[in-house]
Order: sequence, then structure tokens, then C-alpha cells
Amino acid sequence: MDTIQLRTPIPGPKSKTLSERRAAAVPRALSHATPIYVAKAQDAWLEDVDGNRYIDFAGGIGCINIGHRREPVLSAIREQLNDFLHTCVQVTPYEGYIRLAERMNQVTPGKFPKKTLFVNSGAEAVENAVKIARAHTGRPGIIAFEDAFHGRTMMTLALTSKTHPYKAGFAPFPGDVYRIPYAYCYRCSYSLQYPSCDLYCARHLEDTFKRVVASEDVAAVIAEPVLGEGGFVVPPPDYFRVLIDICHKHNVLFIADEVQSGFGRTGKLFASEHYGIEPDILVSAKSLGGGLPLAAITGRAEIMDAPDPGGLGGTFAGNPVSCAAALAVLDLFDHEDLLKRANEIGNLFQKRAREWQKRWPMVGDVRGLGGMQAIELVKSAESREPAAEETKQVTQYCYEHGLITITAGSYSNVIRVLVPLVVTDAQMDEALDVLEAGIQTVCEKSRTVAQPV
Ligand SMILES: Cc1ncc(COP(=O)(O)O)c(C=O)c1O
Repeated sequence: MDTIQLRTPIPGPKSKTLSERRAAAVPRALSHATPIYVAKAQDAWLEDVDGNRYIDFAGGIGCINIGHRREPVLSAIREQLNDFLHTCVQVTPYEGYIRLAERMNQVTPGKFPKKTLFVNSGAEAVENAVKIARAHTGRPGIIAFEDAFHGRTMMTLALTSKTHPYKAGFAPFPGDVYRIPYAYCYRCSYSLQYPSCDLYCARHLEDTFKRVVASEDVAAVIAEPVLGEGGFVVPPPDYFRVLIDICHKHNVLFIADEVQSGFGRTGKLFASEHYGIEPDILVSAKSLGGGLPLAAITGRAEIMDAPDPGGLGGTFAGNPVSCAAALAVLDLFDHEDLLKRANEIGNLFQKRAREWQKRWPMVGDVRGLGGMQAIELVKSAESREPAAEETKQVTQYCYEHGLITITAGSYSNVIRVLVPLVVTDAQMDEALDVLEAGIQTVCEKSRTVAQPV
């Protein structure tokens, strides 16, 4: 039986009523990718309040890599609920926090001694990584990338690249943030081509230290190993090694923001492993908590110990229920071959998406790492002009036909896959059929359709 089951036109009447209540009660700045209100979710599907069932390619924006409501996570949460909910780790600590820190120190890349701090969200984790890097180096500067996304708090907005809707109107932001181009080969800022470019964009960091900010004023370079909100851009395999060598030559730390690329999404527990790199600090969140809010900052022990006692923390940071859930998430990665599945999902997607690229020039780029896959839509293969409106239309077609997808990219023209890794082959086929039909419909409508080859 198909997973997708639509009983009403989308959105259904109950979702519509909730949308009206939302408009009156919630600020409009909290946007919604779909007008669908959820009633239940399991594994890789969601059901809305009108009884319509969808395949979930968004996974709570990458928080549900292990699947919705996995029993081992639910039972770990239930057990913790029986004991205590909250004491604040800074007042009366508990073992779950320590056990999870020990596990994080083991599973993150790097064979050196590490320590881990827990907070509530990805943005809060990035904020703390910056504090720790500054405390350790005694330097203020942070270098971030074009197309980066690091969160919505003030410091992380300073690091985030995309202006609308994230930054516009919210300035001033904290200072001492410098921005350099990322290795976005499809839209290379230097109009070069890999590998003949010899990784000019990475090597250009030396130039930045000469012409933009002195390296002795820079605490850290922060990068996503695969861009998340920036459009699932995967740098060449040797890019980060070159970049980090330059950082370390100047005693600048390298922070990997693995909030979106972590916890199995790319076919390794952390995307950094694909590049053979060992970040000085690694930030993770999203799928760490299996659906509960939790984020981690893991780094070299001597760096993590730089701030004085009391300098780091937060009332709810590393709360016991989230820690219990996260321990169960890590157990699931030990017991189930979710990493292999991420690669299989990537292959299933690539196979179909490469066919679409041949048929429709609107599918400009197909890219990804493991289960972190995307297509970038353009007006024409030659101009590569971003097709943002068409991208919106495809995602609308998808949710109206039973597939929840979300967009990404500085030009809002990327459709990304963050499907729970427990999705079945049959569900992938069903979902990709919807996405394909959506692309075809929009191509035909916008007359960008090419002759089938
Ligand atoms: C790479 C990256 N860093 C940081 C964040 C911010 O995380 P949060 O929304 O949990 O604050 C996100 C969120 O999408 C992200 O993708």
C-alpha cells in the first residue's frame, strides 16, 4: 500500500482553520513552508489534522535522521521522565550529561583529548563556539563564508550570509566578522573550475589575512562542511585540508558547523570525516536530540577549558530528557546501519535526479553527499539564472501531492532532501515520483522544458 494517502484537497479544512488562527495569534515573520498542520508522525511519514498522509523529505529540517518517534528514543525519554525532568546542570548535575559528553568526545573526528558542552539550539552552540575560540586565542575576529547559515541570534546572524529574510532590518550585528567566498563550484565567485583552479578559493585565505584582517586578530574560521541553508553545496575533497592548513599556520582555529550535516546525514556520522579533517571545535545539534532540542560544542580539551568557570552554561542547557534521547540516538547509530542507508538514499536520489537533469534544463545542478542531496533549479542551463519562483511552485506541487519538501540556497532555488534515514525504497520511489511530476508540471507551465533526449 502506498504511504501517501490524500483524503482532502490540500490544505484540508482543519489545516485551513488553524492557518486562520495562526494568522491572528502568531507573528507573520514565523513563516511556514507548507500550510499543513501535523497530527502524527512515524518513521518517514507525517499525517495532518485532516487525515492526509505525506512522506517527509524535510525531517524537521534535518532533526529526524533516525526517523520520527523511534521506540528506543521514546523509551529512553519515558525512563528519564520517571526520574526527573529538570534540575539545571549548573546546580545539581546528573550522569546523563556526563555520559553523553563522553560519547560525543569519542564519536567526533580527532584522536586528541576532547570536551563537550551542551546547549539548546544550533545557534546557541555556534555562539558558544565563538566565545570559546575567542577566550582561547585572545583574538576577536571570526571569518565566515558567503552562503553560510549559522542561526538567527545576533552573533549567528552576523555569521549568516543570506540577507533576506534573515538579516535585513535586524542590524547592527556584533562586529569582527569577515566573509570570504565558499567553494561553491557551480557558482564559483572567481569564475574558475575545479581542479584547474588549484583551490584558489581556499588558498585565498592567505590574501584575506593580508588585505582584510590580520591573522593575529582572527580567533577562528567557521564553516559548514556541506552548506545547509546555503544550498547543500559540497566542496571538493581537498578543500578543507588546504583551508585548515592555512588556519593552523596562523594559529587560527577551525570550527566545523555540523548542525545540519551531522548525525549520519552524509553517510558518515559527521561530514568532516569525508574530508579527513579534525576540526578544533565541532558544533552539532538538530538530529542529536532525536527530535528534542539539544546542541553540542565539542573541541580540543585545552580549547574548551579556556573560559573561566561560570563563563559558559544556560538554565535548560543539556537538559536531562534531551541527553537521554541523544544517548539513545547514538545507540541507534551503533546498532543500525543508518550510515549505509544514507548512502543508499543518496544513490536513489542521484539516479533519478540525473535523469531529470538530462530531460529538463531547469534542473541545473544535482549534488550532495550521502543522504544530504539537492537539486538547484535555474531558468536555463546556460545562464544559470536562479529559478526561485519555479522552485516554490515545485515544492507547492509536492505538498499538494503528498511529499513535504523544503527549499534552500541564497537564491531560494534549491530543493533539498533531509528525509529520515529509515525511509524505505518504496517510499523513496513514491516520493521521487511526486517530485518528478512536480518538476515536469512546472517546466511545462513555464515553457523552460527542453526536448527530451
Ligand atoms: C549549519 C547550521 N548552523 C546553525 C543552525 C541554527 O540552528 P538552530 O535553528 O537550532 O538555532 C542551522 C539551522 O538550520 C544550521 O543549518
